[in-house]
Amino acid sequence: MAIKSEYKWRPPRFKLKMFKDSFKYYKSRNPPPDLKNIIDFNHPNLSKVRKISTVENKVHNWEKLGLKPLNKWNIYELITVPGLIYIENPFTEFGQQNWILKCVKDFSRKPNKLNLDAHSLLHDNESWWEACFKEPKSEQKLLTKLRWATQGYHHNWDTKHYSEDSKTEMSKDLCDLTELLATTLGFSEFKAEAAIVNYYRMNSTLAGHTDHSEINVEAPLFSISFGQSAIFLIGGRSQQDPAEALFLRSGDIVVMSKSSRLSYHGVPKILRAEIQPWEYYENPNPDSRINEEDWCKAKSYISEARINLNVRQVLKSGQSKLY
Ligand code: SIN
Repeated sequence: MAIKSEYKWRPPRFKLKMFKDSFKYYKSRNPPPDLKNIIDFNHPNLSKVRKISTVENKVHNWEKLGLKPLNKWNIYELITVPGLIYIENPFTEFGQQNWILKCVKDFSRKPNKLNLDAHSLLHDNESWWEACFKEPKSEQKLLTKLRWATQGYHHNWDTKHYSEDSKTEMSKDLCDLTELLATTLGFSEFKAEAAIVNYYRMNSTLAGHTDHSEINVEAPLFSISFGQSAIFLIGGRSQQDPAEALFLRSGDIVVMSKSSRLSYHGVPKILRAEIQPWEYYENPNPDSRINEEDWCKAKSYISEARINLNVRQVLKSGQSKLY
């Protein structure tokens, strides 16, 4: 009997001329990709990225939003992808825990929309998070089934059009967080009006796409990552353009602004995090205490998952409705 070779062909790295070639290359398991050309902001290559400074921000609720003080942030722009801004994890350990918990427990709750809605897997008024822990651990099948949750103007995955009839409240904390990030980067007009929370498992990928459903594509888009790490690809306006690959770790923020706002991007691979910046929080402030039991469940979830919070402005400045 012929032995089936495990080896699969993949394009050599120097032939990665187009977004789709890079996607295929970094997605490959066998053979695994060479990671050495990925932009790693822990060791920034100054021929590819430049450090940028922030606008003075008088806001003082950094700590409440789970952020370190501004003078501790490291912010870069990609030289090859103008307008693509990267903020290296600006969250405190409390911030990481608090936002992870919000993503799993609050943002997955009605009236937000979930991929699970179409499959009638939850009873009326039952939240995904509660439903997951109703069962013994061995039967927690629902835990791995959540893929996305939307809030504000709900993203329509089929039509790619927003509607006034499909809109719920945005989380106040999420608006405060992204509007503070925006002001700090000089986008003082930004309003958070739609969010997608993407829930990834270790074998998930997100195909290359552009985000163009918003009427306002001049406003920046904020993309915040928690949990396990990822390879993020960012290209140009067409699938034929080449792409840069970046490592994203828990807490890192990508801002797609200016000409990068409409660029192709995607996630070909989730990687196990080398460090867990959500782990070491010791609860120094009694006002910002995390419920231990909830955190224990969230910590176990995030040990096998990555979460991405993707926040957009939909309307033009001064506009109050879509039509
Ligand atoms: C997205 O583009 O929708 C998500 C990107 C990410 O998960 O980093």
